[in-house]
Amino acid sequence: MAEEYQKEIEKRRTFAIISHPDAGKTTLTEKFLLYGGAINTAGSVKGKANSKYAVSDWMGIEKERGISVTSSVLQFNYDGYCINILDTPGHQDFSEDTYRTLMAADSAVMVIDASKGVEAQTIKLFKVCVMRHIPIFTFINKMDLEAKDSFELLDDIETVLGIRTCPINWPIGAGKRFKGVYDRETKQVSMFQAVSVGGSKSAAETAYDINDSRLQEEIGEELYQQLLDEVELLDGASDALDQELVDKGELSPVFFGSALTTFGIETFLEHFLKMTLSPLPRLSNEGLIDPITAPFSGFIFKIQANMNKAHHDRIAFMRICSGKFDANKDVCHVQSGRKMKLSQPQQIMAQDRKVIDEAYAGDVIGIFDPGIFSIGDTLCAPGKKFEYEGIPTFAPEHFCRLVSLDSMKRKQFIKGVTQLAQEGAIQIFKDYSLDLSEIIVGVVGVLQFDVLKYRLESEYNCEVRLEPLPYNYIRWVKDPATDLNKLKRVSDCKKVKDMKDNPLLLFANEWSIRIVLENNESLELEEFRKN
Ligand code: G4P
Repeated sequence: MAEEYQKEIEKRRTFAIISHPDAGKTTLTEKFLLYGGAINTAGSVKGKANSKYAVSDWMGIEKERGISVTSSVLQFNYDGYCINILDTPGHQDFSEDTYRTLMAADSAVMVIDASKGVEAQTIKLFKVCVMRHIPIFTFINKMDLEAKDSFELLDDIETVLGIRTCPINWPIGAGKRFKGVYDRETKQVSMFQAVSVGGSKSAAETAYDINDSRLQEEIGEELYQQLLDEVELLDGASDALDQELVDKGELSPVFFGSALTTFGIETFLEHFLKMTLSPLPRLSNEGLIDPITAPFSGFIFKIQANMNKAHHDRIAFMRICSGKFDANKDVCHVQSGRKMKLSQPQQIMAQDRKVIDEAYAGDVIGIFDPGIFSIGDTLCAPGKKFEYEGIPTFAPEHFCRLVSLDSMKRKQFIKGVTQLAQEGAIQIFKDYSLDLSEIIVGVVGVLQFDVLKYRLESEYNCEVRLEPLPYNYIRWVKDPATDLNKLKRVSDCKKVKDMKDNPLLLFANEWSIRIVLENNESLELEEFRKN
């Protein structure tokens, strides 16, 4: 039976695409989809303020702001592969979900704006990829615009992110003088030719061997000489392509291109598909679970409420880790011990959602949540009972005191806040010593505060006030038995505990974290909390 799925699973590639807002993540995703024939025109992935809304049109707040809070999973076929792209929401809708999505991916594509280099949000997402040791591919985008020096960009990635790089191709000029890219393996230069913005695939690219005299004529003596010098430098000084290091996420293959003009996309895809693997075994409390030989299993990494306003429903996003999911068969929800059929399993595409009957390891599907799933839960074939490793809790960066304006509605208020925290939209904390009713809310992206207020009002009928707190850093105390009241020099940080009574510290800046660590030698702080 396993052989039956083997072919399906082996052709799967599941990756997340990460970047700082505006680096070109959406544009690149669209171009991938164009290659896969999944969409016909560019511009259909993201509903912008002035264009028609896509599926994410589920919450008033989104309408008001013209942004998309919902992320999606896009599946397309290309060259015999079945590719799942997991979008990691950026802009204001950056949230803990963005991090969680990375837990479901087998590799990551990092898009960098060539004129900017590594930016803040990329750093945060990158850290999660490193924690997971997944392969990270770099696409340096917008080469058709003025760019930083290519060596400087590599240096930036290496020093800021601490990962080695290996350029697979190399750009010739940039901006108005962008002529194309040189493939270091084939020693061919693909000449840059912009394709109309909304157009389909790239035009037939002209390619020359690096020794072809026509190349010199086309790009001019100066750029040609520069190319020869740079290639020599690269061959002498840069890391060799070591697939083992790529697999471990220690060496990032780098590509240069321009998503908007559809240049360098096909090359990227081809190399990427060759260098990445189909889903690998995942760790559970019963050891590694093989994606092919083990029966169906998966875990929930994200829960989205209110996808359908009329029903207040919740959709759980499940990453399938082994075997085949069959909508007609029962599955077991390990945490509750319940056997059930998953209703309305669906593929969450940007444009629409499609009810599906089957899916395989590597795929991500949305399932209806009857209110029993939590983030990190395992689902598997009946008779099995293992649990996949939990999803870490990521550090929120914004904190507010949450005050209920109507003391008569205390019960609803607590219920609402607890449910929203369970869903993973927010994290809640309380003061370490005073067991007052003070609730502190932490979020990764500030928009979550608006979402919280909106949802408490619209779903739980509770008016609330959010009072900002001057902290931006949170650290879990590694040893939960630590007595925070015994720590020295903690005057400018706030001592709190989470709902499981784990001790934590809130800091205003990195400097105060250092001071506390210096003054308390045995104290160990953590940025993620493994659950
Ligand atoms: P994001 O998802 O990472 O936030 O970025 P997105 O793809 O939305 O791209 C941000 C802006 O950069 C868009 O312009 C997009 O057209 C542009 N862009 C993306 N890739 C390239 C590229 O390779 N070259 C050039 N020149 N521009 C690129 P916008 O004006 O903000 O949006 P739009 O009106 O074009 O949609």
